[in-house]
Amino acid sequence: MSTSIQVLGEERPFFHLRTATTSVVLRVGPFGHLEQLWWGAPLGGEGEGWPSADELAALWHPVSEDFAQTTHYSTTSDSSFALAKTPLAWATLGKGDPRVPGLRVREHQVLDATYVRHEVRPGLVPAPGLPRLGSEERSETLVVTLADRVAGLEVDLFWTTFPLSGVLTRRTVVRNTGAAALTLEHVASLVLDLAEPDVDVLTLDGHWLSEAHGTRRPVGLQQVVNSTTLGTSSDRHNPGFLLPARGASETHGECWGVNLAYSGSHWSSIQGDSGGMVRVVAGLNPDGFAWSLAPGEQFCAPEAVLAHSSSGLNGVSASFHRFVDDCVVPAHWRRRERPVVLNNWEGTYFDFDADVLVQMAERAAELGVETFVLDDGWFGERHDDQRALGDWHVNTDKLPGGLGALAERIAEHGLAFGLWVEPEAISPNSDLFRAHPDWAITTPGRTPSQGRHELLLDLTRPDVRDHLVETLGSLFDSAPISFVKWDFNRAISDADEAGFHHRYVLGLYDVLGRVFGPRPEILLENCSSGGSRFDLGMLTFGPQVWASDCTDPAERLAIQHGLSLLYPPSTISAHASDSPNHQTDRVFDLAFRCDVALPYVFGIELDPRAMSEQDTRLLTERIAWYREHRAVLQFGASRRTDHPANLPQLARVGDEHAIAFAYATYVRPRQPSPRLVIPLGGQRVGLSWPFAAREDETLPGAAARAGILRSGRQHDTSAEVVHGRRLREQ
Ligand code: DGJ
Repeated sequence: MSTSIQVLGEERPFFHLRTATTSVVLRVGPFGHLEQLWWGAPLGGEGEGWPSADELAALWHPVSEDFAQTTHYSTTSDSSFALAKTPLAWATLGKGDPRVPGLRVREHQVLDATYVRHEVRPGLVPAPGLPRLGSEERSETLVVTLADRVAGLEVDLFWTTFPLSGVLTRRTVVRNTGAAALTLEHVASLVLDLAEPDVDVLTLDGHWLSEAHGTRRPVGLQQVVNSTTLGTSSDRHNPGFLLPARGASETHGECWGVNLAYSGSHWSSIQGDSGGMVRVVAGLNPDGFAWSLAPGEQFCAPEAVLAHSSSGLNGVSASFHRFVDDCVVPAHWRRRERPVVLNNWEGTYFDFDADVLVQMAERAAELGVETFVLDDGWFGERHDDQRALGDWHVNTDKLPGGLGALAERIAEHGLAFGLWVEPEAISPNSDLFRAHPDWAITTPGRTPSQGRHELLLDLTRPDVRDHLVETLGSLFDSAPISFVKWDFNRAISDADEAGFHHRYVLGLYDVLGRVFGPRPEILLENCSSGGSRFDLGMLTFGPQVWASDCTDPAERLAIQHGLSLLYPPSTISAHASDSPNHQTDRVFDLAFRCDVALPYVFGIELDPRAMSEQDTRLLTERIAWYREHRAVLQFGASRRTDHPANLPQLARVGDEHAIAFAYATYVRPRQPSPRLVIPLGGQRVGLSWPFAAREDETLPGAAARAGILRSGRQHDTSAEVVHGRRLREQ
């Protein structure tokens, strides 16, 4: 008996998919089109059973009057049926639906796929070659197959339920069932019509050093496109976005969310329609995409991920977070606490040798750091960022005994060892390039453009991928390496072949799977000049991402806030760095620098040998506190409030404890004093200060009930951290 998917009726079935926080209802329409009757709050549920077919049919009332200019689908039977007035879960082309389609095929300007069959399967059905998501115990997959016999193709639409986190995933497979080759020019992972005209769209936009800044605007009749053509999921526009009902806040109102388990050029379109619907189409970027499909072949689009909540943006984030922690990150790292690292990049840049690193490790050990991560500059003739990428052998002038000897010396101080690599890149000035110039991405007759003095290896070539798998495998096995930072510092250019970006990303997934699959205990931290590949695809290979090259804490507040809409704290790598800050030259006290990074995966990125005694004491205290509470900081429920951007507040809520953080940055003249509100989502806590003597004191009941602690300070850049035991409900 199905637990999260119900199928009602035979000839024209209804499909009801239900999780803890949402229902999706689909129906086969009068002419076989797959209709999207509902995506919103769960229907029925605990104790109430499943709604009947009549109740489901009542969910959608089509616009009764015809629009002028309406194309009627059929003149022989139901002459009033028009695709333009029908909410759809898969779109047609050239049959009267004016909205954005999900499929384009070069050989056909009319596409009309209708219902053929369906099946419900246990668990998730993985898409070959694409990021492998896990499933929940009661996950099920509905596969609906549509066919267009004239064009000679079938479309399989997969929906998988994740009943506990509340999430649903959705993907598309297109099969050539005809006798002639087809050229796919656009295959969306997701097409749906949301029967909710008054929504906003909140995208995460930015650039290097300034990723994931939220932009919220109303959805209207103009199309909003959230996309990138760079070959990465990009720091410009994260693939994930939210659709909050107009007026919805962090804690109140309906909110929908969409993300993609994909790391390359993506594209989503959100557009209102005069019929009272909003069409959402999401998937690979059709720009520069073409895929030839011989008879019998199929193409798999990546998974789209859907979440809905009736309790504001926090509710959607909660579903995404639980899903990522339980089903996305590699099995070995699910709910496993991440170590506190020292990364030497901002402490030394390229200027180090083994003795310097060991001295840093010794000091780091005294501070309570657990893993030492050696960043760029340890290999080949790499003395600056202009050479040697590809030459992945240790520079023995800098590290005489090699990586093994260095790791051993670092281990003597009790620290594990991690290593930086940028394997997809190749410097024109490298032994690898001199030996294999044809391995770089180039176009005949054109001089390839460089980014950060780099070219990229052509990961669509099996021989290049094999080289990387062998080189990296033996590198990571050559020393006790427990942590790898995988960097990628430029966009794809000079690929004069439609579909190249997607092929490249499939090649990348192949390499990552073959390198890290057999080494599950290595903690892979992804990085792409910071957050240029902060996406669910990369998170299936490594459980955390270096969120930004900007370590200015005031800037980081906005970046981390934006990312937290879609990604849990356990995935967001955040380091306290030096002051003045290296990117902005602004000065911040160490307490603030730490307190901004503490609610995430905390680390440090400075030279600990150069710290004052006072700072050393403070950092030691903070790290000890972090290690004690990191289970709740990394995996506790995450909550945000609706405070102004320069006065953000957030909390982590565990079974026993809750910790709240309130910040003030660059307060405006006469800006009202913020109250510290503990955003616990209706739960009460007892509160105490972590760094003062009043460890066990709880606040008076009334204040705790209201969740209000006291007025916050109004200094430029200050932080209050409040830690409390949760009280039982009365
Ligand atoms: C860019 C990364 O984002 C930095 O953290 C650092 O690893 C440098 N690359 C090293 O070249």
